[in-house]
Amino acid sequence: MSMSKGTVGLIGLAVMGENLALNLESKGYKVVVYNRTASRTEAFLKGPASGRDIVGASSLDEMARLLPRPRQIILMVKAGRPVDEVIEQLLPLLEPGDILIDGGNSHFEDTERRAKKVEEAGLLYVGTGISGGEEGALKGPSIMPGGSQRAWCVVGGMLKSIAAKAGKDNDEPCCEWIGPGGAGHYVKMVHNGIEYVVMQAISEAYLLMSSLLSMRAGEIQTVFDNWNKGDLDSYLMEIAASVLKKIDPETGRPLVDVISDRAAHKGTGMWTSQSALELGVPAPSIAESVMARYISSLKAERESAAKTLPGPTPAVYGKDGFDDASKPRIIGAIHDALKGTIICAYAQGFAILAKASETYSWQLNMPSIAALWRGGCIIRAAMLADIMEAFDRQPNLPNLLVSPVFRDALEGVQKGWRAIIALAAQGGVPVPCFASSLSYYDSYRAARLGTNLVQAQRDYFGAHTYERVDREGVFHTDWTSEE
Ligand code: 6PG
Repeated sequence: MSMSKGTVGLIGLAVMGENLALNLESKGYKVVVYNRTASRTEAFLKGPASGRDIVGASSLDEMARLLPRPRQIILMVKAGRPVDEVIEQLLPLLEPGDILIDGGNSHFEDTERRAKKVEEAGLLYVGTGISGGEEGALKGPSIMPGGSQRAWCVVGGMLKSIAAKAGKDNDEPCCEWIGPGGAGHYVKMVHNGIEYVVMQAISEAYLLMSSLLSMRAGEIQTVFDNWNKGDLDSYLMEIAASVLKKIDPETGRPLVDVISDRAAHKGTGMWTSQSALELGVPAPSIAESVMARYISSLKAERESAAKTLPGPTPAVYGKDGFDDASKPRIIGAIHDALKGTIICAYAQGFAILAKASETYSWQLNMPSIAALWRGGCIIRAAMLADIMEAFDRQPNLPNLLVSPVFRDALEGVQKGWRAIIALAAQGGVPVPCFASSLSYYDSYRAARLGTNLVQAQRDYFGAHTYERVDREGVFHTDWTSEE
C-alpha cells in the first residue's frame, strides 16, 4: 500500500478542478474536495473519483476540519468575484500558516490585493497560473506559481509532482517559482497573450490557403501536419490539424466549415494588451489578435459591409493564371509569415515580462519561464527550447528578435513573409496579425522612423518640445514665425 504524501483541499469541481484533483491523487496525495453545489461533489465522488483517495466535504467548515495543518487549499473557482467570496468564507475557518492557492485565471492585481489581505491574517497565499486545459490539468499542466515565497517551500514539491515534464529526459517539471505577489498570474496572462497571437496567426494561414489557393480543410490539414513535424512543431499547430480533420456528423462537411467565425474571449489577451499599453511596451501582435477577435464578432455588420464596400477579389490559384510552382511557393510563404509572426509573439511577450519585472521588482527569470512553457501549456512549442537558450546565453537580451538564433530565423523567413502580405493586400484578404507583426519587425529594426515629424507636430500645436539628433538638450520652435 502506498503512503499518502499528504492531504490537500480543492474547492471548485468544474472540469479543471476535477481533473486537477484526479492528477493530485494519482501522484499520491489525498484530496478533500468541496463544491458549492453539493450534487456536483456527489457526482464526482461516484464517478471519476470512485475508488480513489478523494473524499468530499459537505461544507468549508468540514473541509477545514479534515485537513491537517498547515492546511493547503487549492481554489479552482471562476476568476473574479467568486474567488473573493470563497476567501471571505475561508478566512475565519483557517489558522496562521495555512496556505491558499488560487489556480484560476485571476487578474494579477486581484492576486496582489488578495495576497496582502490573506497574509495580514497570518496565512500564506499563492496565485498560480495553470495552463494546459482539461487534459493538462489531468495529465500534467504547466504551473506558474507566485505569491508568498514561504508557501513555495511547503507546496513546491506537490506542484512540481503534478506538472508536465519536459527536457531531453522528460524529467524537468514545468513548474517553477515565479516571484512575489501577482507575478505567477501575470506570467500566465502573458502566456495567454502569446496564445492569442499563435491562434490568430494559424487562422490567418488557414484563411490564406482557403481563399488564395481554394484549399479545403483536409488539404490544409496535411500542410499543418507537415509543419508540425518541422520548425513549427507546437501543440496549437497539432490541434489545428486535428480540428481540420473532424467531420460534422450532421452535414458530412468538415466541422470547421460549419463553425461560425465569431471568436469569443474571456479577457486575458485584453489584459495583456492593457498591461503592455500601461507599461509602454510595444506589443502590437498581441493587441491585434485581440482586435481580430473583436472584429470577427461584428458578424452582422461584416456581412452587410461585404455587400457594399469595394475591394478586390483575390486571384485564385487554378483560375487566374498561376503557374504550377506558385502553389508550393505560396504555401511556403504562408509558412514563413506564420513563423515570423510567432517569433514576434514570443518577442513581445518576453519584452512585456521584462518591463513588468523591472516595474514591479519581481526579478523574473526568463530562461526559467521559457523552460516551464516547454511542456503542458497551450503555447508549448519546439521554439521554446531556442528561447530558453537565447536567454540563458544573454540574460539581458533586450529583445528575442536580436538573439542570434532568431535573427537567423527571421532572415530565413522575411522574404516569404513580405511576399504573402503583399499578395494578401492585393487580393483583399485580411491578415492583421501577419501584417502587424511584420510592421513590428520592421519598426524594431529601423534606426530611423518617421516619428520626428510627430514630435515636430506636437511642438507646433502644443509646445511639447523635441530633442535634436545633432546636440543634447530640449528644444522648442515658434513654428509660425517668419524667421
Ligand atoms: C490555458 C488556457 C486557458 C483558457 C484560455 C481561454 O492556458 O490552459 O489559456 O487558460 O482556455 O484562457 O481564453 P479565451 O476564452 O480568452 O480564449
